[in-house]
Amino acid sequence: MQGLLDEQLPLLRYAPAETPVAQFDRQPDDIFLEIGFGGGENLAAVAATRPDAGFIGAEPFINGVASLIRHIDERELSNIRIWDDDVRLILGGMPDACLAGAYVLFPDPWPKRRHAARRILAPAVLDELARLVRPEGSLVLASDHPVAKSWLLQAACSHPDFRWTARRPVDWRTRPQALVPTRYMRKAERESRIPNWFLFERQPG
Ligand SMILES: C[S@@+](CC[C@H](N)C(=O)[O-])C[C@H]1O[C@@H](n2cnc3c(N)ncnc32)[C@H](O)[C@@H]1O
Repeated sequence: MQGLLDEQLPLLRYAPAETPVAQFDRQPDDIFLEIGFGGGENLAAVAATRPDAGFIGAEPFINGVASLIRHIDERELSNIRIWDDDVRLILGGMPDACLAGAYVLFPDPWPKRRHAARRILAPAVLDELARLVRPEGSLVLASDHPVAKSWLLQAACSHPDFRWTARRPVDWRTRPQALVPTRYMRKAERESRIPNWFLFERQPG
C-alpha cells in the first residue's frame, strides 16, 4: 500500500498553481470537487460513471488518500486528482465558476458550540463554493448527526447564492442515485443514526 501511495500520489496530486482543467489527461466536460472524501468510495464510484468529467478530491487523512489511490488503481481511473491537505488551501486559487458541483459528505460534526469554528462549512468556505460552482451547478451535503445537519442546512440555506431543492421529506431522506454509500455512512446506519442528503443549486446570476 505504501508503495502504491509513494508511486502514485506525486502523479495524481492536484497542483494549486495550475488551472484545474489543465490537470486532467483529456479536457473534462465538467469538474467536481469532493471535500473530505474519507476512504474515497464515493469519489471513485462517481468518477467511474463520468469518465468525461474531472474530479478533485481533498482529504488530509493519509490513510484515506491511500484508500482512494487503491480504488483508482483497481478501477483504472484517470480522471481524479488528489489534494492531500486542507481544502481551504486550494479554494482561493481556483477560477470562478470552474466547478459543475461540490460534495461535502458526512463532514466532522463538531457538535459543541465552542468547536463551531472548526466546522468545514464556515461562511468563508461557502462563499468560495458559491464563487466556484457555476450557475445551476450543485452543492451536495450529507450528515447523520443532528447538530451537523442543522449547521449544514443553516449555513447553505442562509447563503443567497444557493437554493435548497428539496420539496418533500423523501428528498432529504433518500441518497441521490449517483452517490454510493461511504464507509462513514454505513457506520452511521449500523449505529442507528439516520443519514440525510441536502441538495442545493447554485443560483444563476
Ligand atoms: C467524518 S469523515 C467523512 C468522510 C467521508 N466523506 C465519508 O462519508 O466516509 C470527514 C472527513 O473530512 C476530512 N476533513 C476534515 N477537514 C477537512 C478539510 N479542511 N479539508 C479536507 N478534508 C477535511 C477528514 O479528514 C475526514 O476524513
